[in-house]
Amino acid sequence: MTNEQLNQAEFELQTKNSSWQFKRDPYQILQHVWYGPKTGMDMSYLQEWHDTGFSGQISDAGNDRTYSLDTRMQEIPVEGTGDYRINSLAIRHADGSIASDLRFKSADHQAKQPLKGLPHSFSESENLNITLMDETSQLEVVLHYSTFEECDVIARSMTITNKGDQPVFIETADSASLDFGLQDLEMIHFYGRHNMEREYQCVPVTNGITEISSKRTSSSHQHNPAVIFKNPTTTETSGNCWGIMLMYSGSFAIRTEKDQHNQIRVSAGINPDTFEWKLEPGQSFQTPEAIFSFSNQGLSRLSKNFHQFIRDHVMRSPLAKKNKPVLLNNWEATYFTFTKEKLLEIAKSAAEMGIDLFVLDDGWFGKRDSDMEGLGDWDVNKEKIGDLGELIDGIKKLGMQFGLWIEPEMVSEDSDLYRNHPDWVIQMPNRSPIRNRYQLVLDFSNPEVVDYIYEKISAILRAHDISYVKWDMNRSLSDLYTKTLPADRQKEMAHRYVLGVYDLANRLTEEFPEILFEACSGGGGRFDAGMLYYMPQIWTSDDTDAKERTKIQFGTSFFYPVSSMGAHVSAVPNHQTGRITSLQTRATAAMAGTFGYELDPTSFDQEEKDLIKEQIAHFHDIQNTILNGEYDRLSHPYKDSYSAWQFNDGKRVIVHGIRYEKRPNSLRQPIELRNLNEDQMYKETKSGMVFSGKALMNGGILLPGELGDNYPFEFIFEALPEKNNQN
Ligand code: GLA
Repeated sequence: MTNEQLNQAEFELQTKNSSWQFKRDPYQILQHVWYGPKTGMDMSYLQEWHDTGFSGQISDAGNDRTYSLDTRMQEIPVEGTGDYRINSLAIRHADGSIASDLRFKSADHQAKQPLKGLPHSFSESENLNITLMDETSQLEVVLHYSTFEECDVIARSMTITNKGDQPVFIETADSASLDFGLQDLEMIHFYGRHNMEREYQCVPVTNGITEISSKRTSSSHQHNPAVIFKNPTTTETSGNCWGIMLMYSGSFAIRTEKDQHNQIRVSAGINPDTFEWKLEPGQSFQTPEAIFSFSNQGLSRLSKNFHQFIRDHVMRSPLAKKNKPVLLNNWEATYFTFTKEKLLEIAKSAAEMGIDLFVLDDGWFGKRDSDMEGLGDWDVNKEKIGDLGELIDGIKKLGMQFGLWIEPEMVSEDSDLYRNHPDWVIQMPNRSPIRNRYQLVLDFSNPEVVDYIYEKISAILRAHDISYVKWDMNRSLSDLYTKTLPADRQKEMAHRYVLGVYDLANRLTEEFPEILFEACSGGGGRFDAGMLYYMPQIWTSDDTDAKERTKIQFGTSFFYPVSSMGAHVSAVPNHQTGRITSLQTRATAAMAGTFGYELDPTSFDQEEKDLIKEQIAHFHDIQNTILNGEYDRLSHPYKDSYSAWQFNDGKRVIVHGIRYEKRPNSLRQPIELRNLNEDQMYKETKSGMVFSGKALMNGGILLPGELGDNYPFEFIFEALPEKNNQN
């Protein structure tokens, strides 16, 4: 077949290495055609359907029993069209009927518009907007697509507008839908719990429906709002894979169905279990964005696509790409028990070791000596720490910046805020609310509450020289109800809460762009692209155990860049596991992120202090490669007896890792490096040995053979100037 004979797809979104195709069918319904490598042709020749019993026809198809939306691939599958599979849009009309019949109206290209009140990706390129209409109800749906050429990403969101004269109820409005057709796929997803986030799991997609979701009004420790589909033969370095990530921090659902013909469909968005939205005539609703990426070079490339996309098109903080200060946080050092003197003593020791930023965690405000009290009272506890300005001056005199912890969404029953505004907490009528970590949640769906908290927090930030803020969120929401909405709008509350969080985050980060904000939710319970839009780093987990962290950071790395992962060295025995690992092991694990310490250095002997000093100086030296280089996973810590990873900035390649267990009388294990220049020569800085890129990628390097479990290692390679290269 010559090129001229190849048909063009009717609609095609292209990035460097991917193509997304769809077209109108004879009934003006949008048919999904292809998402995969660029092929240079219309891929709809693959679509052929036959009469399938018990799969009905839309009325315009007359007696054509081969036309059923129950079997066809669709760009946006809708409830009430005779498609019994999972749908991405369900609209209940004023008369109670649930149906929409979306037909193509128009397509246009326009500059990408910001999503109002929601985090969103930014791009210079134009959006493709496809307008669809349900004539009966006058419901208009616009699909917005943006392409990100270099990182092979396509973003999609949807705007629903009620152009009729009756209110409608949106029961489901998913951001993403993707029909894969007939393919053998596996799904990688990241489940977990507090202290054990983003555990890797790879499962075959089987017939029936699988759901990865959260109903906690946060993206949650339990599931991350991101999944990967891959062919069974796809590896880190070869094969096809597709990633779907939601840019949303609230309850979500990613549903996957393998249908009667073994076709696979994915639909992802706000969790419909805890969502509904009443749309009055003339009103619009816009979904959060879904981010898709495709790689035909395995998982490593897919992760790099997401890392680059998040850093270039999601993180809007001017500090996102700057080197991050090495911080010391007092939480695991003191918990709630500290005085101004104790803090300054820790700070002095920290400064001597080279720490850049001292962070005062929970317990500095209200009356807060335990987690049972004080939340919501955002006034400095002068009895405990004296004048905040003086404390900050003391820290600054030591040559460090100062940072503060806040948990703006929460309130303790034992607090002045609760005593003055009991009506501001989330609670169902005539029922006692569920407590979680002894605390209740403020109703952030109520703008009055958000305004109050904004005033309190911004006043502190305005009054003091604060360089860093850790924004925590330490419980899941329950009792979803708000006094501000009528009965038929209560299911809007969870999404409105998230919009309230975004509103506060937006106001604070816009007003204080020079402050480095770190998101947190009992560690990594709200680790998502929505939060990364406002805050360029997130505390990855409350679990600071080095060995556990290698797994948590491994799972996190599939979607999120190293520069977004908060990672600290803490004391041993570790407070979460009791495990004892060396200071060097802990530092190696923590250097795969925004590096810091979370311990009391005053209890350390001189040798330990000197080692920490060396570690900090070393991190300062290599942080540019770590935070701004390309990241690669070199092992599978669930299968291998070691964990290894690589940072590469083109000039310097760093391999870090931890060998978990020493077996007696065993040969040293080789590990292969990845994504180097094959013909480049690299010099390993400690041994002085020179290797070719080919050797490092195909033969690898030998792991250390020393005795001891959880043994850390580091190899640093410098790319040699061209004259030293052989080929
Ligand atoms: C959460 C955070 C911790 C610490 C405590 C304070 O658990 O993840 O890092 O800030 O709250 O209460």
